[in-house]
Amino acid sequence: MQGRLLIQSSRRLASSSGRLCVGTRHLLHPHISVISHNCVLNQRSMSQSTGFKQGPHKLLVIPGPIEVHDDVLFANAHSSVSHVSPDFIPVFGDCIRMTRDVLFTRTGQPFIVAGSGTLGWDEVASNLVEPGESALVLHSGYFGDSFADCLETYGAKVTQIKAPIGSAVQIDDLKTALQQKKYKVVTVTHVDTSTGVLSDIKAVAKAVQEVSPETLVIVDGVCSVASEEIKFDEWGLDVVLTASQKGLGTPPGLSLLVASERAIQTFEQRRTPVTSYYASWKRWLPIMKAYEAGTAAYFATPPVNLIYAFNTSLKQITQSSISVDDRIRLHREASRKVKEAATSLGLKQLATDPAFAANGMTALYFPDGIVAGQVLPKLLQEDIVVAGGLHKDIREKYFRIGHMGITAVDSSRGDIDKIVAALKKVIPEATGVVNKTLGAYSYNERAEAMQARSRL
Ligand SMILES: Cc1ncc(COP(=O)(O)O)c(C=O)c1O
Repeated sequence: MQGRLLIQSSRRLASSSGRLCVGTRHLLHPHISVISHNCVLNQRSMSQSTGFKQGPHKLLVIPGPIEVHDDVLFANAHSSVSHVSPDFIPVFGDCIRMTRDVLFTRTGQPFIVAGSGTLGWDEVASNLVEPGESALVLHSGYFGDSFADCLETYGAKVTQIKAPIGSAVQIDDLKTALQQKKYKVVTVTHVDTSTGVLSDIKAVAKAVQEVSPETLVIVDGVCSVASEEIKFDEWGLDVVLTASQKGLGTPPGLSLLVASERAIQTFEQRRTPVTSYYASWKRWLPIMKAYEAGTAAYFATPPVNLIYAFNTSLKQITQSSISVDDRIRLHREASRKVKEAATSLGLKQLATDPAFAANGMTALYFPDGIVAGQVLPKLLQEDIVVAGGLHKDIREKYFRIGHMGITAVDSSRGDIDKIVAALKKVIPEATGVVNKTLGAYSYNERAEAMQARSRL
């Protein structure tokens, strides 16, 4: 029975959702059985919409993977379907079209490929940069180093502009670098997940267009797509790459990339062969075009079930009563709540200025004298799963909270309230231990003292 979904009773099933009745495709997933008593294995029960509800679990609020909607998980549990079946072709085709909608592009070319966000780096490095060409990487944390490493792996000559921890690269520094040397691409991490730093990609694109208009603007949007504002066409971006498991609210396993017409032309005009096999657009472009046109084509097997799940999540993002713009606004509101609560507890953000602070996540220093072991396991006891530090220079000193997707957008879940309540319980407990030897400070006194210390 392990791994199988058992549904309580066909009677209850029929009444729980207008869409579901015995005999529908959904109900006849090969790994779903209907039983006639009230035992639900795997702690799953019925929900209002698809009829599926995932079991109780700790709230996953790391900066990706994130909490996934029941309907998306249920779509992933689709019965096995051929990747060239007429049923599947429009599902894939719609994913391609809806990916454009998320990024506000009419002419961008999406690539939806089995993989993770990292594969997007390989696609850029192997399709757009020829060996020996120069790339400028704007570094606001760990992921800048990794993208640079990937570009070098394919023979690019990489220059990095590194911002101090907690800030993004200054636009003037970018302009100066572009004036000094020709770069084939500029890459920018929209939100560096290691620091929670948000870069102003609109301003980056504008600066590149002013100083070096031939240079392609590549955005690592792994931690920003569907949680931060991105206007692909309007801002003149050339590539936005991302993955399924963050703002797009789908389980991990899909690499998503959108390339501008200009980027595709650059790829088509290469003088040297593409330097990767699996990541080659020569192989994937015909596949994307075929599925969008309503026919199947094969290069490598797509993750069929995950594409069903992605399709469901994309519909929620692009076709629900909440528009994409509203979704971004709701992420800002959720972020503000978490950040205000953290500040009131005396916690300092890594982002040195609110303008550098991401809206889909928050990176917070531990209070002085406090280590991860005094906070993260306690949050876990409150059923809240957050992430530790990632930036190698300060790894032990901070932690990260994700607030993307349904956690930010669906307030009825109460996820943000749960995060805030857990922080309010755990942080004073942790700092109370430290301050015991200093006497009986009130909670507010401690918070003020910590804020004052952090300003020094
Ligand atoms: C900003 C950023 N870029 C790239 C990646 C790599 O993505 P993946 O782990 O899906 O390969 C991540 C992963 O978290 C990320 O946050």
